[in-house]
Amino acid sequence: MRFPKPSTSLPRWAVATAALASSTLLSGCFWLDGPQSTFDPNGPVAKAQLDLFYVTCWVTLVIFVLVGSALAYAMIKFRARSDADAHAEPPEQHHGNPLVEVSLIAASVFSLVVIAIPTLRGVWYSYDVPEAERADAYEVTATGYQWWFKFDYPNEKAQTPDATGKLVSADLTTGSELVIPAGRPVHVNLRTVDVIHSFWIPKLAGKVDMVPNRGNSLWFKADKPGYFWGQCAEFCGESHAVMRFRVIALGPREFNDWLNSQMAPARRVAPDPEGGAAKAQFAEYRVFRRNEAGYTDRFDASPLNAWRAQQLPGKDEDRALIAKGRELFVSKTCASCHTVRGVEGAVGVQGPELTHVGARTTIAGGLLENNRDELHRWIHAPNEVKPGNKMWMNGYLANSIKLTTADEDALIAFLESLK
Ligand code: CUA
Repeated sequence: MRFPKPSTSLPRWAVATAALASSTLLSGCFWLDGPQSTFDPNGPVAKAQLDLFYVTCWVTLVIFVLVGSALAYAMIKFRARSDADAHAEPPEQHHGNPLVEVSLIAASVFSLVVIAIPTLRGVWYSYDVPEAERADAYEVTATGYQWWFKFDYPNEKAQTPDATGKLVSADLTTGSELVIPAGRPVHVNLRTVDVIHSFWIPKLAGKVDMVPNRGNSLWFKADKPGYFWGQCAEFCGESHAVMRFRVIALGPREFNDWLNSQMAPARRVAPDPEGGAAKAQFAEYRVFRRNEAGYTDRFDASPLNAWRAQQLPGKDEDRALIAKGRELFVSKTCASCHTVRGVEGAVGVQGPELTHVGARTTIAGGLLENNRDELHRWIHAPNEVKPGNKMWMNGYLANSIKLTTADEDALIAFLESLK
């Protein structure tokens, strides 16, 4: 059989190189300090995981170079130099070479051992907080829901008013944003209420699955204060790709301040004592394209500062509107799925806890920035933002919730007031 003459081989090489380079670039491998890059570790666990990646990478690179060179050598040295060469009888065939075979087996075993030792060490290390630091570890529980994360602080006690208005203790829970002390190990219990999710903070640690009826856990430490992106890393349904969360690591004093503000019941903005209806209506809401990104540049510039700014109440709050939103929150049945400590009847646990939602930087499971336009985008048409979500299916559709623009204005003002 005759092979066609290889045509111009150089351009083909060039095309292959360009294809490889562009696919690497497009896949984000070179965006090394992006918000979800594992090449920019911010704590010891992520660092250990990256080191392990490099060990594997170097070992396989050495194998690639050795095997590739042998292949290239054979291809060039024994290529057909003429037509006669191409049709020559094959050389005498040998069956095996014990020395070569045994050395290759030994080399393979050696490579695997070189990878296995740090791998096992890494598995042990990431499994639990090291003995020496265990007493200092901060405990939280993360629970996966389709499609958002709930965070419980089992060793903290929040406050909520009982029927008589007396403050009694309650669980401290947040949604979509996990605030932790920087410089301290954090031990996270991983739970799920529905399907398998996976907990991953690329710059800090991961990934460990959240499996029904099984208690998993992981630990990590943020070396210094920072704002980190998290993501569900296990396909868990139609909106898996937008099941996100944030981790905010704070210094000891700031973390303590945050805990204290979270423990308080929902902020209550009383209507203006002089009465009067809602003031000027909001300007038009922005209209978003489907799948348009939910973040402004303000975030990318300094997310931690954006988070800090978010803790403070707005300057021109519309008291009447907020009071109306508070009533609508109950009458439109939002309260049957969302807890707001201090709003009577708001004790639902199907959706995220909203007692201090106004102080979070994200809504809708970490997908959208927490601002007026995005809040409107979310409560106006949840299904367009996050297909199949429970607020739409079990809330809006099941309870036939209809919101006028005035209702939306009031609800948004109320949610934003919950600092
Ligand atoms: Cu939860 Cu993917």
